[in-house]
Amino acid sequence: MKSSVGYLIDRFLKLKEERSAYVIAHYYQRPEVQDVADFVGDSYSMALAARETPCETILVAGVDFMAETAVILCPEKTVLTPEPDATCPMANDITARDILKYRERYPDSIVVCYVNTPAEVKAVSDVCCTSSNAAKIIEKMPPEARIFFVPDHHLGHNIGHRLNRSIDLYRSCCPTHEEVRTGGLLELKQRYPAAKILVHPECRPEVVDVADFAGSTRAIIEYAEASEADSFIIGTECGILHPLQKANPRKEFILATKDLICPNMKSITLEKMIYSLEHMETRVMVEESVRLKARIALERMIEYAT
Ligand code: 13P
Ligand code: SF4
Repeated sequence: MKSSVGYLIDRFLKLKEERSAYVIAHYYQRPEVQDVADFVGDSYSMALAARETPCETILVAGVDFMAETAVILCPEKTVLTPEPDATCPMANDITARDILKYRERYPDSIVVCYVNTPAEVKAVSDVCCTSSNAAKIIEKMPPEARIFFVPDHHLGHNIGHRLNRSIDLYRSCCPTHEEVRTGGLLELKQRYPAAKILVHPECRPEVVDVADFAGSTRAIIEYAEASEADSFIIGTECGILHPLQKANPRKEFILATKDLICPNMKSITLEKMIYSLEHMETRVMVEESVRLKARIALERMIEYAT
C-alpha cells in the first residue's frame, strides 16, 4: 500500500508536469523535497540552474534569498516560493543602510556581500559571493583594496585567514552553524578516530581549524565522494545527510551535533509545494530598480567565479 508521502510525491510530480515547472532545491531541504526536485545543489549552483533552465516557471525549495537570486537573474521567469516566510536570520541582520554608512567612511572600499543577503543589500554591494567561490572572488580584488565582507563574520574571517588578508567584517552569523563546537567535534573524533571532519565555512574559526576540510555544501559532498575514508563527522545542516548517504551508501556520516537544523529550510514541505503549484503562489518579486543593481553584483560573481 502506498504511504501518505508516496501519494504527496505522485500528486506533486503530476502538478509539476502540468505546470511545466522546474524545481530547484537546496541540500538542506527535507529528503522527500530533494527527491522530487529537478535540481538539488548549493546556493551557487542553484543560481546557475535557475539561469540555465528553459522552463518559464521555477519553484525554489530554499530560503527567500535563494528565490530572490533566481528572480534577479531571470526576470522573465515566474519564480515561486512554497513558503514566503522561509528566510535566513543572518541575511536579515544587515540592511543597505549599514553598507552605505560604511561607504561614507571608506568611499574607496570594495563591498563583498554573501549571497545570504536581501536584494537591497546586493544592490549596494560591488560583488556577491557564495561559500563555494568567496575565496576565489576575494583573491581577484586588488591587494591594496580595503574589503568589507557582509554579513557573516565567521565566513569572512575564515576566508581572510586562508588568504592571509585583512578584511573588514560585519558582525552576524548563522545560528545553526554556531551550534558546532570544537569540544563536541573532538569528543566525536575520539569515538571515531578514522573519521574525517568536514564543516561549512559558516562555522566558528576554531571549528574550521580542527576540521580536515571546510567548504560549501556541494564541496562537502564532493570531498566525501572522492575521499578514501569511510566515515565522516559532518558540521553543517542535517539535510545534507540525505545526498551524502545517497551518493555513498557504504560510508558512515555522523552529524557533529543534533542541533544542526535550520528551521527555515525545514519549513518547506511537500504539502506547501503542492499548494504552490496548484495556485501558482507565492510569486517572488524584486522591485525593478533594486533588481537591476543587484544583478550587477551577482553577474560579477559569476564572471569572477568561472
Ligand atoms: P551553500 O552555498 O554552501 O549551499 O550554503 C548555503 C547556506 O545557507 C549555508 O548555511
Ligand atoms: Fe541561513 Fe544558517 Fe539557515 Fe543557511 S543554515 S539559511 S545561513 S540560518
